[in-house]
Amino acid sequence: TEISSRIKVTEVIEDISLPGYLCTQESLRIATNFQFQDTDILLVTFPKSGTIWVQHILSLIFNKDDIQNQSTIPTFVKIPWLEHKQVFKSVMENEKSRPRIMTTHLQAKFLIPNLKNSKVRVVYVARNPKDVLVSFYHFHKFANFMPDFSSFDDFFDQFLEGKVHYGSWFNHIKGWLGVRHELNFFVITYEDLSQEPYQAIQSLAKFLGQHLEPEYLKSILYHSTFSFMSQNDQLNFSTISCEIYDHSKGKFFRKGMTGNWKEYFSQDQDVRFNNVYQAEMRELTFKFPWSL
Ligand code: A3P
Repeated sequence: TEISSRIKVTEVIEDISLPGYLCTQESLRIATNFQFQDTDILLVTFPKSGTIWVQHILSLIFNKDDIQNQSTIPTFVKIPWLEHKQVFKSVMENEKSRPRIMTTHLQAKFLIPNLKNSKVRVVYVARNPKDVLVSFYHFHKFANFMPDFSSFDDFFDQFLEGKVHYGSWFNHIKGWLGVRHELNFFVITYEDLSQEPYQAIQSLAKFLGQHLEPEYLKSILYHSTFSFMSQNDQLNFSTISCEIYDHSKGKFFRKGMTGNWKEYFSQDQDVRFNNVYQAEMRELTFKFPWSL
């Protein structure tokens, strides 16, 4: 449609394209030159890995009043994307509170020069890439600023070749986990958050140096469930204009489950995905909780 083509612009850094609706060359320049402070917290994800979920949990860990007050400031404003235009600059310039918390989908190679030798706490969210693929596919239909794909099969091939916005999932995870020992680094997975939320959030808080009283932890658990978040109009993006998110084509909070890929992958696609996964991930020693 006219509206969607109007905001479909692509910005490219090296070999990676990003939605031009969210990023510009200038905003990417700011991101890659960003001067971190040791107290900063950087949330790193490949899209559709549970970014908003962990943003919300971080926001609850650090702003204990939010639960009572039902803050009207959207989470993506409180914990902005490093590489996005507008919001990031204005929030960071006005931000007096510490720690500063920010989000990025960028690959490690763009940020490593400024992160190495810092004490920035990096929280990396990983999710079974098969579920990421399916979630990303739906996001392309829902978000007018993402490119069109003719079919799921078409999207599947592009994803596997890393020819989607933000590049290859494999390069993203290998890049970040490859430098984990040189950073103040913590991995949290979508699967652990789904299956063991109490422990996952407790470990996250511990990494961030925050002690959570059991009662408060329980409250975070309740306020970060899929059912709570998807029904809360402050959190569920339902108020975002149809020009940006086509609410007739889907929801941001779509399924919120693990293993949804099984309803989409053909047997042949599954075999192809597993072959690529094994070849790409061979050298990564990290143990993930998902089964492919
Ligand atoms: P699905 O499309 O599989 O439902 P991101 O924030 O990185 O874009 O990730 C979005 C995905 O995380 C969506 O996956 C969304 O439903 C899921 N998600 C968001 N909040 C969640 C929650 N509280 N519990 C489970 N899944 C959640």
